[in-house]
Amino acid sequence: MISSCVFPVAGYGTRFLPATKSVPKELLPVVNKPLLQYSVEEALSAGMAKMGFVTGRGKQAIEDYFDCNYELEHQLQGTSKEALLDETRDVIEAGQYSFIRQRQMKGLGHAILSAEPLVKEGAFGVILPDDLCHNPAGDGVMTQLAEVYRRYGKSVVAIEPVPMERVSRFGVIAGESIEDNLLQITDMVEKPSVEEAPSNLAIIGRYILTPDIFEILRRTQPGKGGEIQITDALLEQAKQGNVLALKFAGRRFDCGNVHGFVEATNYFYQNVYCAEETKKQVRSA
Ligand code: G1P
Repeated sequence: MISSCVFPVAGYGTRFLPATKSVPKELLPVVNKPLLQYSVEEALSAGMAKMGFVTGRGKQAIEDYFDCNYELEHQLQGTSKEALLDETRDVIEAGQYSFIRQRQMKGLGHAILSAEPLVKEGAFGVILPDDLCHNPAGDGVMTQLAEVYRRYGKSVVAIEPVPMERVSRFGVIAGESIEDNLLQITDMVEKPSVEEAPSNLAIIGRYILTPDIFEILRRTQPGKGGEIQITDALLEQAKQGNVLALKFAGRRFDCGNVHGFVEATNYFYQNVYCAEETKKQVRSA
């Protein structure tokens, strides 16, 4: 039902220098797959096939990644290594990939507003690739949000409880429970101090936004850090009772810093990569 997903990927990735001097941080591998591909796969499995990337200077490698590499394919054709490209080829074929440049870094709200020409039809998803999510028990987080949207037709954000001393890293919500694990948001604050935080429920980088968000974003004034914040625009929808928050099933890793990235790498190596290798061995035995 929701066909488009936006990926803000214009950030510099300074926490990963020197690696990010010439490689976009979104293409750094978690085991053997770029961080961004996990996000794209999550969108595809939620039925979203129109990917809109908000890129910036120095991010051309992302466009190349989601395109054919004829030379490489030709080199590997007919060899035992050909299958190594299958997974990525399937992802490329399953989606349509569009790119738009965010010329100035004016915050997440501004990045999402920049994506407007890419998402003309109705509600859309937003995935921040830094937040890498995995749900071994079932649907990915974007599928879980889409299911809530299907029933309520309102904007939906994914949330998780965090220790109080970490609330200042997130958008933080207050809400009233309307179902198990589902709240209607009554307040939200971008990166509050412990004293300002309305709860310890943090927004993580998964959103479904109804399209009126664009018009709101156009008049949203710079907020925290002098940037146009999606949290502030969503608060306007929330005041009308139009934003829900889902305590999602699964795990989230903050790949925006080295510690979280290494944690994700260890987890995916053990729980995804090795598990798949074992399955392949069993199949070929
Ligand atoms: C952004 C949002 C914040 C949200 C976070 C999730 O912050 O502004 O509300 O909690 O993503 O990762 P950023 O991490 O880009 O500073």
